[in-house]
Amino acid sequence: MQKEEKYFKWIDLNIKNIKEKVVLLNGVTGGIGSSIATYLSYLKNDLIILVRNFIEGKKIKNDLENGFHNKIEVIYFDYLDDNSLINTLNYIKNLSKLDYFINISGIYHQNYQLISGIEKTYQVNFFKPSFFINELFKINKNLKVVITSSITSLIKLKNKDDLFKDEISFINTLNNIKNKTKRYAFSKHLLNSYLLYLKEKENKNITIAHPGIAVTKLFDKKNKAYPKIFYIFIPSLMKIIFMDSSKASLSILKASDYQNTLINKWIGPRGLFHSWGYPKIYNLNKNLLDSKENEKIYLLTNKVNLK
Ligand SMILES: NC(=O)c1ccc[n+]([C@@H]2O[C@H](COP(=O)([O-])OP(=O)(O)OC[C@H]3O[C@@H](n4cnc5c(N)ncnc54)[C@H](OP(=O)(O)O)[C@@H]3O)[C@@H](O)[C@H]2O)c1
Repeated sequence: MQKEEKYFKWIDLNIKNIKEKVVLLNGVTGGIGSSIATYLSYLKNDLIILVRNFIEGKKIKNDLENGFHNKIEVIYFDYLDDNSLINTLNYIKNLSKLDYFINISGIYHQNYQLISGIEKTYQVNFFKPSFFINELFKINKNLKVVITSSITSLIKLKNKDDLFKDEISFINTLNNIKNKTKRYAFSKHLLNSYLLYLKEKENKNITIAHPGIAVTKLFDKKNKAYPKIFYIFIPSLMKIIFMDSSKASLSILKASDYQNTLINKWIGPRGLFHSWGYPKIYNLNKNLLDSKENEKIYLLTNKVNLK
């Protein structure tokens, strides 16, 4: 909690709306998510935290409740476990109040792995969140949803004839991308596109944000994303160069607080490559604002998610 304390003053001055609310969020066992959970607790919000590791979740609950005296529920949740998504949705149905969902969970460079015929990065970062968020809106159409995206989501889609042909070709085209960074970038692009379509056509309250770069578990050795030598120097060097998660997560907090629903805005850090500074509202790049393309992605994704 110490590393977050130095931003409490900034929060007092800049965060106006997300106070004393009920917030559902995942990813709190990670770098960005643990800082967000601390800030939301400081702002006297009650939290429902969705975690894969229940023991870690209980520890986060105890630490935050002891520090801030808010109420925290812990629910087992894994984007790769459909039952956990259904159980969570059933729990939400019975809630008397829910104001926000902040999607923070995500995976980065992963070794290639098909899960139910779809590469894991797309499942965790795109298909399952699109399903889950769509279902949340069915339960609560006025929910405010915030997405932790990435600057890499600005990537231009390729092979569009194959991508948009039908749902089989959609999945095959994505699965055929062998580069880990590209799979990550496309997964982030596709979730943004899906939600921008929902926002435009159904007037849903959705805000997209990105944190810049912060050294978190995303760059963990256990992901084996890079050759061994990478882990000897690079993460420590990155820690010197880039922000820590307590500053990077301010953009996600700002996006949660943001009340404007303009379609072409998103929030990320100021500074060179949007990588270092305090949050700023930016215009979204036109790669993400092609309404026809976003509609195709939305329709194909729903077909895949129905199976
Ligand atoms: N750090 C950066 O530089 C950066 C830059 C741009 C965007 N982002 C985005 O920021 C978000 C948070 O990343 P982070 O940097 O805080 O990474 P992190 O420390 O690795 O945290 C990732 C979180 O996602 C959870 N998660 C992983 N797989 C999951 C699954 N199958 N179901 C549900 N939850 C799952 C992890 O849970 P466990 O603890 O159980 O593994 C953890 O809580 C991600 O969406 C990431 O893409 C980060």
